[in-house]
Amino acid sequence: MDLSLLFRRKRQAPPALTGELRERIRASFDEASADEENFPSTIDPRIYHVKLIHQHLAPLAGKRVLDVGCGKGRFARVLRELEPEAEFWGLDLSEEMLRYVPAGIHTRAGSMTELPFEDGFFDAAYATESLEHAVEIERAVAEICRVVKPGGRIAIIDKNAEHWGRLKTPEWERWFRPAELERLLRQHCRQAASRPVSYWEDVAPDGLFVAWLAVK
Ligand SMILES: C[S@@+](CC[C@H](N)C(=O)[O-])C[C@H]1O[C@@H](n2cnc3c(N)ncnc32)[C@H](O)[C@@H]1O
Repeated sequence: MDLSLLFRRKRQAPPALTGELRERIRASFDEASADEENFPSTIDPRIYHVKLIHQHLAPLAGKRVLDVGCGKGRFARVLRELEPEAEFWGLDLSEEMLRYVPAGIHTRAGSMTELPFEDGFFDAAYATESLEHAVEIERAVAEICRVVKPGGRIAIIDKNAEHWGRLKTPEWERWFRPAELERLLRQHCRQAASRPVSYWEDVAPDGLFVAWLAVK
């Protein structure tokens, strides 16, 4: 074996969310928006993901909250019922997904890699199964943290790279090792931790989903 090849191998450049790829991702989710079975517009409010996000971000009365990559706004819909005095915003790449977001939740079309909000505009932000589609992950994490006020809270629920291969995924999707995303969050936040979560509180997590909880 020619060992020199090992030493000559360059570090791979991180993937880029080019205009063409962004359009492809957007078109794919525009189309998926009609699929209510796999992309539902509601979620059972008893699901632990909802409870955990709420526990981490609360109290939210009078606070402004961003759902990053909100899809049809299923999480914002139920969180708003729990926190009627909070102001909810949903940001998504797909305008077709945003059409399903309930009235009363502000919506913005755009990419989480360049959020159309001022620094510290939100008191809190969360992202559920959306960061995995952002391609430029470091940039998206930096943006989510930028738009949250110092002291504000951030929750991310996504899939664990240690379970990669368990589900069919589009070629741009990425899952995260718990420590990897904690490290990215710590670049902008004073606290960041992670833990495995399951949909139901009384069911032990199987490791697929991880919640990352941070305080800026
Ligand atoms: C699997 S869905 C999850 C939607 C929602 N968070 C939920 O849990 O129902 C992923 C969402 O991320 C959105 N998305 C993908 N890339 C994005 C980007 N760069 N910026 C913002 N949203 C994006 C998609 O359009 C899609 O609505």
